[in-house]
Order: sequence, then C-alpha cells, then structure tokens
Amino acid sequence: MGAEVSRGVAGRSSRPPCPTMGLACLLAAVLTLGAGTAIGADAGEPTAEELVQALLSGKAPVGGPFELIDHTGQRRTDADFRGKLMLIYFGFTHCPDVCPTELLAISVALEKLGPAASAVQPLFITVDPERDTPAVLAEYVSSFHPRLVGLTGELAAIKTVAHAYKTYFAKSAVTNSAVTASAGGSPDNYSVDHTGFIYVVGPDGRYRGFLPPQLAPEQIAEAIRPFLGRE
Ligand code: NI
Repeated sequence: MGAEVSRGVAGRSSRPPCPTMGLACLLAAVLTLGAGTAIGADAGEPTAEELVQALLSGKAPVGGPFELIDHTGQRRTDADFRGKLMLIYFGFTHCPDVCPTELLAISVALEKLGPAASAVQPLFITVDPERDTPAVLAEYVSSFHPRLVGLTGELAAIKTVAHAYKTYFAKSAVTNSAVTASAGGSPDNYSVDHTGFIYVVGPDGRYRGFLPPQLAPEQIAEAIRPFLGRE
C-alpha cells in the first residue's frame, strides 16, 4: 500500500489489508463489473478512475451534505446523524454478491463491537434509485442489521452524494440474457457498476477515511474501534 492511501482508515493500521494493491488492481477490486457496457452515462461526469484517484489522493474533499429519503419514506439529511459515527456504503439491492457481502461484513463487525456499536450508524445509499424504492430498501436492509438505514432519492440527489464521496456508479446493460435478446428486452434488466468503499464519517459530520472493499468483519471492527470512545 503506497503513501497515496495513507489517508484511508485501513492505511492507519499497522497491518494494511492490501499492501501491494496498485490503482489498477484496486479499480478492479472496487468495481462490481457488469457483463455489459455502461449505458446512459452523461458526458462530463467523472470516470471511475478519476473518482478513485481523487479518493486515494487524500487531497480531494470527501463527503458533504445530503438530502435523501430513508427506507420508511422519511426525508433524511446528513445532519440527522450527527453524534453517531457513520459507516456509509453505496450499492444496490439487485447486486448479486458484492453488496450483500459487504453489508453482511459491516453487520457482523457491529455485532463484534458489542455495546460500543450503538455509537455507530450504518447507512446504505442506493445507486439504483429507479428500482430501490423505500419499500424495496426496507425489506433489504432489515435482512442485514436492525439499525441499518437505507437511503434513496432522486437520481440527481444520488449522483450528488455519490460523487461527493468519490463513489462511481453507472448503469450497465446485461448481455447474454434471454430477456434482452427477446424483442424489446426489459427496462428492468440492467446492472449497476459501482465502487465499493466503506466511508467513515465522524459524529461531527466530517469525513474520517475509507475502508477498502473485501475486508473481513474483524478487520472492519478493528478499523473503526479507535473512533469509538475517543470522539
Ligand atoms: Ni454491489
């Protein structure tokens, strides 16, 4: 792990979990790549590489205010979570394996922290607001952790918060599918490529750092434990 990731939470650990991971490797690891090509991408939007490089640089501002709708249909802003250590993960409920794995790892990490975990607020922000309505999110988040809050909203609001956190996402056509091969295909038949960092935000709302993907629950617990009790 090079100096460029020293601002990451995991980079503060004496035993970085991915010591030899270069940018290309990391990009491959953090992108849940769909089988197809990106569709509907707007010109002028940041690329995955630009966002990841900005995050890893430790120089670009990360995080910021948001105004979204939670899985109960309530309007929520970042200010609602002041006083808690926020763990923010961006993903989508149709994600076949990466998102469920990460959310499960976060949930198990919170269990491992015991009562101290009450100071942590896990958040799941969808990058697929089209399909991830509050009702869909409600069922999804409840399958991971009782205090996991799902957030959705207008696509523009999702883009704003995702890019503020240097998270890349783009709709991806699913190929090799009988559905798309049929006449007209299905508008529902798409995936979403996205980067998969876990962001740590302090009780004051300030960004503290990120955790790389694919950490074990024990590693997540160890990475956030220092933030509990001293904040
Ligand atoms: Ni995913």
